[in-house]
Amino acid sequence: MSHPHRAYIPAAGHDFLLPFYDPLNRLLGVGALHDELIAEAHLEPGHRVLDVGCGTGSLAVRIRGKYPQVEVVGLDPDPKALAIARRKAERAGVTVRFEQGYGDALRFGDAEFDRVTSSLMLHHLDLPTRRGMLREVLRVLRPGGSLHLLDFGRSEERSSRFLSRLLYGAEDLRENSDPRVAALLTDAGFEAVERVAGAATRGAQTG
Ligand SMILES: C[S@@+](CC[C@H](N)C(=O)[O-])C[C@H]1O[C@@H](n2cnc3c(N)ncnc32)[C@H](O)[C@@H]1O
Repeated sequence: MSHPHRAYIPAAGHDFLLPFYDPLNRLLGVGALHDELIAEAHLEPGHRVLDVGCGTGSLAVRIRGKYPQVEVVGLDPDPKALAIARRKAERAGVTVRFEQGYGDALRFGDAEFDRVTSSLMLHHLDLPTRRGMLREVLRVLRPGGSLHLLDFGRSEERSSRFLSRLLYGAEDLRENSDPRVAALLTDAGFEAVERVAGAATRGAQTG
């Protein structure tokens, strides 16, 4: 089903940089962060997982590769990223349903998912869209389900502050400080907001 077009920030900031997105992530070791996020989600056979802002599909494909009995849906507004994601799943020989759409206007019923994951996408959203997305995530999660977030935090280290400013801009990351993300999650109605260590901001909580 097509979705009314809205502006969004694509994976690498600009369409023409999309071919460099996966190589850059490999260089930055994002795969290891995805593995930590997957471990933290405590997936079980039969679970349904929604990956919001799935981009080129690395996390969604990784989840399904590790847990073949888990159903995975990847959602992103960017048809070019989704095309890469579908090819990636095919190459990996796994089945993932990739859909075009926006995190704050989910076309899924209430309580359809056991887990929602979202990696490196929060900083792409302005504040009202972040709030809208978290409300929607809570709606589609079954009671007792959980959201697992991974994103760049606002680093106080000079070297990573320089890199994150270069890539993402200081304003976006200011909104990603731990207390702000935690407050957003609590305001949206999540019950147990938890930061799980690492270089990135990660919140896991049960709705
Ligand atoms: C940096 S990429 C992250 C991709 C992937 N999750 C990963 O870990 O590599 C951020 C993604 O968020 C998507 N995005 C931007 N606005 C969005 C929105 N309103 N709803 C859902 N996804 C959005 C972009 O299209 C982009 O693919």
